[in-house]
Amino acid sequence: MSFSPAADQDIIIFGGTGDLARRKLLPALYNLAVAGLLPERGSIIGYARSASTDEGFRELARAAVAAFSRTGLDEKVWAALAPRLRFVTAEPHGYDELQRLATLRERLIYLATPASGFSAIVGELAGHGLTAGTRIIIEKPFGRDQASARALDATLHESFEESQIYRIDHYLGKETVQNILVFRFGNAAFERIWHRDAIDHIQITVAEAMGIEGRGAFYEETGALRDIIQNHAFQVLSLLTMEPPASFDAGAFRDEKAKVFHAMKLLDPARVVRGQYGRGRIDGQDVPGYCDEDQVAADSTTETFVALELAIDNWRWAGVPVYLRAGKRLPERTVKIQIVFREAPVVFFEGTGVHDLAPNYLTLALQPDESITFTFIAKVPGPAVEVKPVQMRFSYDEAFMSQPAEAYERLLHDALDGDPTLFARSDGVDRAWQVVQPILDADLPVSAYPAGTWGPAEADALIAPRRWL
Ligand code: BG6
Repeated sequence: MSFSPAADQDIIIFGGTGDLARRKLLPALYNLAVAGLLPERGSIIGYARSASTDEGFRELARAAVAAFSRTGLDEKVWAALAPRLRFVTAEPHGYDELQRLATLRERLIYLATPASGFSAIVGELAGHGLTAGTRIIIEKPFGRDQASARALDATLHESFEESQIYRIDHYLGKETVQNILVFRFGNAAFERIWHRDAIDHIQITVAEAMGIEGRGAFYEETGALRDIIQNHAFQVLSLLTMEPPASFDAGAFRDEKAKVFHAMKLLDPARVVRGQYGRGRIDGQDVPGYCDEDQVAADSTTETFVALELAIDNWRWAGVPVYLRAGKRLPERTVKIQIVFREAPVVFFEGTGVHDLAPNYLTLALQPDESITFTFIAKVPGPAVEVKPVQMRFSYDEAFMSQPAEAYERLLHDALDGDPTLFARSDGVDRAWQVVQPILDADLPVSAYPAGTWGPAEADALIAPRRWL
C-alpha cells in the first residue's frame, strides 16, 4: 500500500444506497478523504434501483458517515467531498448515464449487490464500454458452491482479465489479520517452532453474540459454513499456515496462499458439526430462536453454527489437526486463534504432587480486545512445588494507543491503487469451495443449541480429548 492518494479515477458503487454502502463503503471513502488518500479527482457515483437524485444521495451518505464513520464527520472534509457524490437510477437509462458521468480513464466499480445480479451488470458494463481501465470489486460469498463459483468466474472473465478482478474478503483488511504475517515472518523465534514438531493443534473461533440482524433471507441461503468458514476463517488460516513467500509481491504472496488451500484435505462429513440456535438469553436479554426470526422458514435447517476438523496435508502441517468453529448467538463476540503446543514429554517433578502440566499456547485475539498472549506454566511462590498457568500479553491498545483503520478503508485504498495482494484469487477460491463441497453435498443433521451457549455438545465431542480454548 502506498501512502499517497491513488491515481485520479471515478468510483461507482452498485447497490449505492444499500446496507453495505451505508455502513461500510461510504464511511470508508470518507475516512480515506480525511487521511488524504482518496484520488484527488473523480466522481463517487451511487447506482441503485431506487429513484433518487444527487442531493438525495448526498443526504444519505452524510447520514451514513455521521452514523458509522470511526472518526465522526468533519464539516470541512464533508464540504469538499459532497460535490463529488453523484447518483444514477437504474431505470430507464442508467448505464448511459454512467457512461456520461464516469469520464476519467480509470475507474473502480464496486458490486455491492446480490450475486444473482452480477452477470447482467457485467454484460451491461461491457456493452457500454465501461470495462477497459476498470478494476471491479466483488463481495463474498463468491458463488454458493464450486459449480456456481466457476460460473461466476466465467461470467466475470468474459469481460474482465483476472488482474482487474478484486474479490474482497474484509478479514484480510483487518490490522490484526495482517499482523499474523509480521508476527510469523518478522520474529524468527516463533517461525522456528511454527510446525508439526512443536504444535499439537490449531483452533480458530469466529464467535458472534448477535443473531442474523434482519438478514433472514440472505442467511437462509447462506448459513455459517458459506458465510464465515469458506472465506473469513480459511483466509485467516491460510496466513497462519502458508510458507514464507519468496518476495513481498502480490503474485508470490497469493501463490503461497493458494498452495495451502491445495494442501487442505477435503472436509470429512464425519468430522463436521452443524448447529442452529434456539431461544435463549444473551447479556441478560431473552432472544428469539433462529426459526422465529423474520424471513426464516419455521422448519429451516440452515446452520447458524459450525465446528469442524480440517487437515493440511503438507510437510509442515501433516498430523496437526485444525479445529474451526463459527457461530451466531454465542455467549460473546470474539475472533481468536489458539496455537496449542505439544506437551512436555515427561513430567519430571516426581513426588511433588504435580502430575499434569497444561500445554503452552499462544492466543492471537483478532477482535475485540486485540492482543497476543502466551500462556505458560510458572511455579507458584512458596516452599512446595506447585505450578500454575500464567500469561505474557501484548495489547495493541497499550502498545500503540491508536485506533486502527477499518478493514474496508485499507482494502478500498489498495483497490484504488491497483494492489491485489489482500484480495482473494480465483484459484484459491475455487479450491476453498472444493474443500467444503463434501459438506454442502452431505445433508448433515443440524443440532439445536440455546442462544447464549457455545453451540451443540457435539462440538465439544468433536475436539475431545482436547478442548476449545
Ligand atoms: C460478514 C458476514 O462477512 O462478516 C456476517 O456476512 C458477519 O454474517 C460479518 O457478521 C462479521 O464481520 P466482522 O468484521 O464484524 O467480524
